[in-house]
Amino acid sequence: MDIQFNNLRQEKGYSGVIFCDQNCRLIGFGRKLDQLSKKHISDLIKGDESFQSRNSKHYDYIIIHQPENLKLKKLYVFKLKKYKEFSTRDFQILGGHLQSIISFYKEDRIIVYPDGIISSKVSFVNSVGELLLGLKLSSYEFNKYHTKKEIKKKKKVKIHSSQYTRISKNIEKIEAVLEGVRLTRDLVTEPPNFMTPPKIAENAKSLETLGVKVKILGEKEMKKLGMGALLGVGQGSIHESQLVIMEWTGSRNKKKKPIAFVGKGVSFDTGGVSLKPSNGMEEMKYDMGGSAVVIGLIKTLASRKAKVNAIGVVGLVENHIGSKAQRPSDVVKSYSGQTIEVLNTDAEGRLVLADALWYTQEQYRPEVIIDLATLTGAIIVALGDEYAGLFSNSDKLSKQLTASGEIEGEKLWRLPLNDRYDKMLNSSIADMQNITNGRGPGSITAAQFLQRFVNKVPWAHLDIAGTTWTKKPLPTSPKGATAFGVKLLNRLVSKYYEGK
Ligand code: BES
Ligand code: ZN
Ligand code: ZN
Repeated sequence: MDIQFNNLRQEKGYSGVIFCDQNCRLIGFGRKLDQLSKKHISDLIKGDESFQSRNSKHYDYIIIHQPENLKLKKLYVFKLKKYKEFSTRDFQILGGHLQSIISFYKEDRIIVYPDGIISSKVSFVNSVGELLLGLKLSSYEFNKYHTKKEIKKKKKVKIHSSQYTRISKNIEKIEAVLEGVRLTRDLVTEPPNFMTPPKIAENAKSLETLGVKVKILGEKEMKKLGMGALLGVGQGSIHESQLVIMEWTGSRNKKKKPIAFVGKGVSFDTGGVSLKPSNGMEEMKYDMGGSAVVIGLIKTLASRKAKVNAIGVVGLVENHIGSKAQRPSDVVKSYSGQTIEVLNTDAEGRLVLADALWYTQEQYRPEVIIDLATLTGAIIVALGDEYAGLFSNSDKLSKQLTASGEIEGEKLWRLPLNDRYDKMLNSSIADMQNITNGRGPGSITAAQFLQRFVNKVPWAHLDIAGTTWTKKPLPTSPKGATAFGVKLLNRLVSKYYEGK
C-alpha cells in the first residue's frame, strides 16, 4: 500500500471517504461541496436505515455509487459516533476498520478527507496520523513462502486535508512505528527452521545502518562470562545461542543512564527433555516474541531518532531435545553466581532471562529495566489475549506502563509479587529451582524467579504469552503476529523518558 498526501480536491478513478456526524450532518470536505452534490449526498444519508450498521461503537457507513457532480468513482460516507471524544486508540481502530472495508470492496484507489474530525482529546494532526497507523497496521501481509503470488494492484491511499504540510511532517513518526512493528511481525512469523538464533541476531545487526551499535556474543564468549543458565537451554540445539546487545544513544547527554529492554528469544520451544505435547507445539515458533519486540522497538526509536539512551538485550536460544540437551535435575550456575536446579527443561525462558537481565544491569546500570517474554501458559489462563501480565517492583513504572498501554490499546494488568511466593522457589540442592513443587500461581512464581536476578533497579516484567499471537483478526492486526509491546513501549519512551 502506498500512502500519499496531497491537496487535490478529487481525482478520476479514485473513490472517496468522507464523514458525517451522528445526526447525519456532513463534516469537513462534505461541507465544502457545491450545493448540488451536498444536497444529493445529504438526501441520501438522511435516513438512518440507509447506513450499514457495523455494530461498532465508532461508526456506520453508506456507499454512494457515482456521486452526482463529483469526479469520484464511489463515495463512502462514515457516520461517526461521538467523534469529539475519540481517543488515540479510537482513531487507530477507525483506520483499521477503514482498511478492512476498502479491502472488502476491493478498492485500490482511495482518497480520505479527514478534515473536520476534531476530537477534544487528540490534536487533529495526531488523529490523522493514528488513523493512518491503524490503516497500515491492519494491512500487514506475510506471503514470502507462497510460490504462486497473487497479482494484486498496489493500493493507493491519499489523504486530502487543508493541514497537509503539518500532517506529512508528523507522518515520519508514524512510519517509524510501522517499521518497528513490521520487523517484529516478520521475525515472529518466519518459520523456526529459518529464524534461528544466529538469524535473529543478524536481523538485529542490520539496525546498524540506523546508527544503532550492535554487539553479538556467541557461545564461546558467554561461556567465558559464565552464563550457564542461558547456555544450558541452548545446548541441545544445533544452532548457536546468542546474546545480542543493541545500543541507541539519542539523548543529548551521551552519559545519561539508559532505559533497558530485555527480550526472551527462544526461536523454538520443544520443551526440551520435558517435552511438550505435539498438539499445538507449532505455536512455539513465537516463543521469541519478546526478543522480536525489543528489536522492533529499537528500530522504531532509531528510525525516529528518539532523544533517549536505550539498550536492547535479547537472549537467543533454541530449546531442543537431543543427546546434548540438559536433563531435568541438572544444576547450572548463572552469570549472577547463583545456582539453579533445572527441574523442568520447559521452564526455560526464565533461565535465558536470568543471564540477560544480570548482564544488562552489570554492563549498563540502567535507570529502569523492562523485560518482555512469552513466559507462561498460566498467564493465558489468567488474562487470555486481552491483557498482558505486568509484574514490577515499582509502582511508578507500573503506572507509566499501564497508562501507555491504555493509550495504544495494548493493555496490561498488574499481578502481585510477594516474599511468600519467592520462597516457593527454594531448592534443597541449589540456590533455587526453576519451577515450584506442585500446582501454584505459575505466572507469579516465574516473575519471582526473574526478580532474583534484579539488583535494586526499577524493573518490570511483561508476560506476553497470550498477546503475541492472535488466532482472529483484531482491529489493527491481521491473524498471526501482533507485535504487542512495540507501540506501548515506544509511547512509554516518548511520554516519560525522552528529553525534548
Ligand atoms: N514458552 C512457554 C510458555 C507459553 C505457553 C508461551 C503458551 C506461549 C503460549 C514456556 O517456556 C513454558 O513452556 N512454560 C511452562 C512453564 C512450566 C513448565 C512451569 C508452562 O507455562 O507450561
Ligand atoms: Zn518452555
Ligand atoms: Zn518458552
